This record gives sequence, C-alpha cells and structure tokens, in this order.
Amino acid sequence: MALKQNEAWGTRVGLILAMAGNAVGLGNFLRFPVQAVNNGGGAFIIPYLVCFLLMGIPLLWIEWSMGRYGGRSGNHSTPFILDNMTKKAFWKYFGVFGIFTNVAVAAYYCYIESWTMSYVWHSLRGTFDGLSQSEVAQFFINYVDVAHSMTGIPYEAVVFYVLCLALNTFILSRGLRGVERAAQIGMPLLVLFGIFLALRGLTLGTSGASEEVPGASAWDGINFLWTPQFDSLSNPKVWLAAAGQIFFTLSVGMGTIHCYAAYVRSKDDIALNAVSAGFTNEFVEVVLGSLIVIPIAAGYLGLDWVKENAGFGMAFQTMPYLFEKWGPILSALAGVMWFGLLFFAGITSSLAMGTPWMGFMRDEFGWNRNKGALTFGLLVLALGLPTVFFYQYGVFDEYDYWAGTVSLVVFALAETILFSWIFGIDKGWAELNEGADIRPPRVYKFIIKYITPLLLSFVFLGSLFTPLGNEWQDAFVSLFAGRGWQLDDSSLVQMVANSGLNKQIASATDPDTIAALKDRKFFVNMTRLLLSLTFVALCGMVYLAGIRRSRVADQTAKA
Ligand code: ALA
Repeated sequence: MALKQNEAWGTRVGLILAMAGNAVGLGNFLRFPVQAVNNGGGAFIIPYLVCFLLMGIPLLWIEWSMGRYGGRSGNHSTPFILDNMTKKAFWKYFGVFGIFTNVAVAAYYCYIESWTMSYVWHSLRGTFDGLSQSEVAQFFINYVDVAHSMTGIPYEAVVFYVLCLALNTFILSRGLRGVERAAQIGMPLLVLFGIFLALRGLTLGTSGASEEVPGASAWDGINFLWTPQFDSLSNPKVWLAAAGQIFFTLSVGMGTIHCYAAYVRSKDDIALNAVSAGFTNEFVEVVLGSLIVIPIAAGYLGLDWVKENAGFGMAFQTMPYLFEKWGPILSALAGVMWFGLLFFAGITSSLAMGTPWMGFMRDEFGWNRNKGALTFGLLVLALGLPTVFFYQYGVFDEYDYWAGTVSLVVFALAETILFSWIFGIDKGWAELNEGADIRPPRVYKFIIKYITPLLLSFVFLGSLFTPLGNEWQDAFVSLFAGRGWQLDDSSLVQMVANSGLNKQIASATDPDTIAALKDRKFFVNMTRLLLSLTFVALCGMVYLAGIRRSRVADQTAKA
C-alpha cells in the first residue's frame, strides 16, 4: 500500500500549461526542424501528422488514463501504476522505465538547457558581436571542450550545468505549485518570444540575400517544410523518423505524463485535457518550430546550405551569427528571446522529468519534497557530468539513443499492450471517459487496441533491424532474392555490437585516429554500463518498495 499523498494540481489551466510545458521542449525547436529537413521537408509532414493521430493521441489518452487510475490508489510513478493494473509482479519492473528514462534523459537534456542559459548571458554581453560565421561556430566547440574552454568563465559549461540543476532542484522542491508556477510564467513567454522570432522568419523574404548567396529567400525554407509531398509515403525511413519525433515531442513513453496525471483529482476530466496539451504542443512545434531556424537560415544562407548543414548545432552555432545582421540592439534582443525561449521550453520539460522520481520516493519511502528534489538533482548531476566532460567522446549521443529513443518505444509498446490487452480496453475506455468533457471518438477504441500496438511494433522492429543505408526497398529485394537482410550500423542490433565503431577502427591506418576511436569505444561502453547499472539499481529499489508494501499490508491486516 502506498503512503498517502494529498498533493493535487491547483487549477485546470495550471495543469494544462504544465502538461503542455512537459511536451513543448527543446525537441520542438531543435529536433523537429532538423528531422523535417533531413527527411525531405514537406515529405515528412504527412507521416508526422498520421503518427500524431494514430500513435500520439492514443498514447496521450492511455498515459493520462493510467496515471489518474494509479493516482486514485495513491500511486504516482509507473512501477506501481503498472503493478496496480495487473496481477503479474514483473510489470512493476517494466515500470522502472518510467523513472529510468527521466533521470537519464534529464542528465543530457539539462546540459542543453544549461547552454541556453549561458547563451542568454553571452547575447546580453555582446560576446558574438563582430564574430564571423566560423568564429561563432567555433565558440560552441570551445564551450563543450570543457577542460580547454576559453569562452568566459573557467569551466563555464560545468558552472552553468550546476546552476541549471540547482534551479530545477529548487523549483521541484516547491512541489506541484512550483511546477505550475514555472509553466504559468514560462509558457506564455515562450510563445511570445516564438511569435516575435517567427514573424521575423515570415517577413525576412529575400532581404537577407547577399552577394555570396544571391537569391536566398526565407520563403524557400518555409515552402520546403510546408509543401506536402506524397512520394515519401512508402518510405519506412521517413515514417520511423516521424514516429520518433512524435514520441520525443509529446513526451510519451517516458512516464512523466503518468506522473502528472496521477495528481489529477479522480473525477476530473482527462480526455479533453490530454488533447488540449497535445494540440498546444503541435501548434508550437509545427507552426513556431518551423518558422524560426529554417526560414531565417535559408533567408541568409540559402536553402541548399540549410539542407547540407541541418543539425542540432545550428541553433547555437549559426543563429547568433545571423542575429548579428540585425544590428547590436536587435541582435541582443533576438539572442535573449531565442535562447530564452529554448530555456523555458527546456525547463518546463526537465521539471516534469523530476516528478516521477520524487513521486516514487514519496509514495514508497515517505521522502518529503525537499529530499526528493535534492536527490533528483544529485542523481542527475552524477549521471550528467560524464556527458559534460566527455561530450566529444559520444557519451551524450549514447544517452540520447538509449534513454531518449529506444526506451521510449519499448515502454510505449509495453504499456499499450498492458492497457488494451491485459487491463482490458473496455475498462481502459471507461476510465478515459470518466468525468470527460468531450466524448472521444469511438474509433479510437479500435485504434488503441489494434492500430497503435501494431504501429509501435513496426517502429520497434524497424529500429531493431534497420536495413543497410536505410534503403528498405533494396533490403526487401535482397531478402526475396535469397541474399538475406543486411543490417545498417544504426540498427539496434548493430549498435549493441558497436559494429560501426569496430569497422572504423579496423579500416583506420593513422595511429592517432585509431587511438581516438578506441577511446570513443571505451566511453561508449562505459556509458552503457552506467545506464545499465542505473536501471538495475532502480529495479532494486522497486523490489525493496514491494517488500515494504507487503509488510505494511500485513501490519494493517493484523491491526
Ligand atoms: N517533449 C520534450 C521535448 O520535446 C522532451 O523536448
């Protein structure tokens, strides 16, 4: 039996803002535009929207329902939310994903969040004034090369990382009120800053074209992203990328939504709240996320440059240089707005990542909010420092892959099966409709039971066995011709075996390159070990919590 927690959301608006804040994050502004550009622009949009309707909305409803159902019996984190829905003990260990993913994602996510804090400061200081494009890009490289960084303060990346975690810890220690307050301040400011920058993207037109890039137009960027193309519909690569983006952006398969929903009062609406938060996220992502980085970069540097250089680093390595073109005052303002927007997007998501751990420790071990928040901060610090110090060795990417990508799909697939087939879709559907302010279309009962698990299975299998070069057609031709299925190094199976790195080591001839690759392999393996140990340790805690619960139940029965 869980210890009683009486905490609940203050207001409905606060809850929706907090849930929207959980979803709206760095993924909306850094990941979405890059995924869209790398997957053919308008070719990405249709699979993306289909995934939103057939996986995103169903998972939102599943997770909100599971969360409120669990909260009713005093469970606020996935191990015992899942346990509560079935009689099989192993499900509570599956629920460990809903804590593990959050602490592991928070570790690298807060690092990016801390960059945004530092870049607000540098924008105000005018650090980027007069720097060339390559100097601005180099600034970032120096920044993440912690030991040699010469960007301002010694060990600046570490200083801002610790500051960022301290701020998250402080807000979390204020409980749900703190989270609600952060969302009430952060979300409107984020939208305001976003609209300002998007208007700039929309009105830039061809005014940024220069002699080096004649004919550059911001509209090329917008048209590229928003003109639907149907030829990609048969390409699984684009579908997998779209599904991955839907997971990350909605924060489904993570355990945060369950936790937030566990604090919804038992008769309050969840059906409408879930879609409100989901659609708010989509507006921010598809509208604001499309109208800033890509059009502004296309307007100055041309669409070809954007296609060649689209990457997560653009936000930090290119945007400050482009802002410079607007004069000292406006560029400082744009820098503060851009990195401020990213900061608010980030913190409202990282706060959500702290709540499952706090909810678990409070339910199971009676820890108060301060203790829960402080230990979350310390845990994230311990897991995050390797990403800060060894960023160049691929530690950050490993966290993103295992915790921020693979875990989400595995957990989402498991919880969908649990909800529809073990707990039972009839009970699940009744739970969703309890107190609902809208009537969810009945077709979704069918979608949740059959379509969503099927799609999730495809996503999982597609990631497990990604074919060579991501060329699906060739792979099937080869399979049917009896030549087998050749795996790509980015497939999960090959990733486990470090196949890509091993090939690079085998083919390298320069001793320095070989040594660098071997170092990288060492760090990659150590990261995996660390993540695995974290998972096992959390399983151990769930085991102890189970014993504790039995003991409390025995004592209650005797009394
Ligand atoms: N949903 C959060 C984001 O998009 C994690 O960044």
